Amino acid sequence: MKKTVLLIGNTDGIGAEMTSDLLNQGHQVIGISKSSSKISHPNYSHIEQDVAANNFRSSLHECLSSIPQLDLCLYLAGIGRELDLADLKAETKVFEVNLMGAVITTELVLEKMQLQNTGHFIGISSLGDMLISPESPSYTASKIALSRYWEGLALALKDKKGPVKISNVRFGFVDTKMAKAPVKPLQLTKKEAAQFLNEVIDRPRIRASRPKLMIPLVGLVGLINKLKVIFE
Ligand SMILES: NC(=O)c1ccc[n+]([C@@H]2O[C@H](COP(=O)([O-])OP(=O)(O)OC[C@H]3O[C@@H](n4cnc5c(N)ncnc54)[C@H](OP(=O)(O)O)[C@@H]3O)[C@@H](O)[C@H]2O)c1
Repeated sequence: MKKTVLLIGNTDGIGAEMTSDLLNQGHQVIGISKSSSKISHPNYSHIEQDVAANNFRSSLHECLSSIPQLDLCLYLAGIGRELDLADLKAETKVFEVNLMGAVITTELVLEKMQLQNTGHFIGISSLGDMLISPESPSYTASKIALSRYWEGLALALKDKKGPVKISNVRFGFVDTKMAKAPVKPLQLTKKEAAQFLNEVIDRPRIRASRPKLMIPLVGLVGLINKLKVIFE
């Protein structure tokens, strides 16, 4: 079945890979991203929009009002950088893009999906949601908040036994400009990440993590930092 799909944060990285994938599958795709798009395709339309800008809510509302039915939405917009204690404004920006942009999207998209009584929302979080990180505290904190929020909403929707679904996708490292760590164990390619997202589209699930082997590794780092915090 051909779907109408909205991708937020899709001009680069995993979002760009997913956009070409979904267009190749014959779906109707709308992209919202900070930059302009190079894609020229009859089934693609693009909205240049910063999710951290004051007009994001109205711009997304306008976009959603113009779509008769939204079948699928993926929130992929994200930023992260190494902490600079002299520039905490940059940390605030991370929350604005990763967290508040996602929260506003979740609100408007779920409102529409519940009204139409169908739809699947996929949020891209991170295995970093298991960490207390001195290197990028805002990134991990934003992903912790998103994972708990999306999984809580997904449980509530499941209890309602309705047809609207939320999946929280948690990646380890993926080979994009976002992955800046000096060592990136078990890094996925963009193609592998997109392939996994296609599996989640076919079989929605509350929590979907890849690569699985990274879960105990990140968990161990998380535990070490947690112990440092507790026994400081
Ligand atoms: N790569 C990894 O290792 C990894 C691991 C776990 C989770 N993730 C998550 O996966 C998602 C996608 O990341 P990625 O690796 O594909 O990163 P990416 O290559 O940097 O792509 C991020 C996309 O979001 C857009 N974007 C950034 N800020 C925006 C804003 N303020 N408003 C609108 N669009 C904005 C970017 O546009 P511009 O290019 O124009 O800035 C780009 O199209 C993120 O949520 C990230 O946290 C990534």
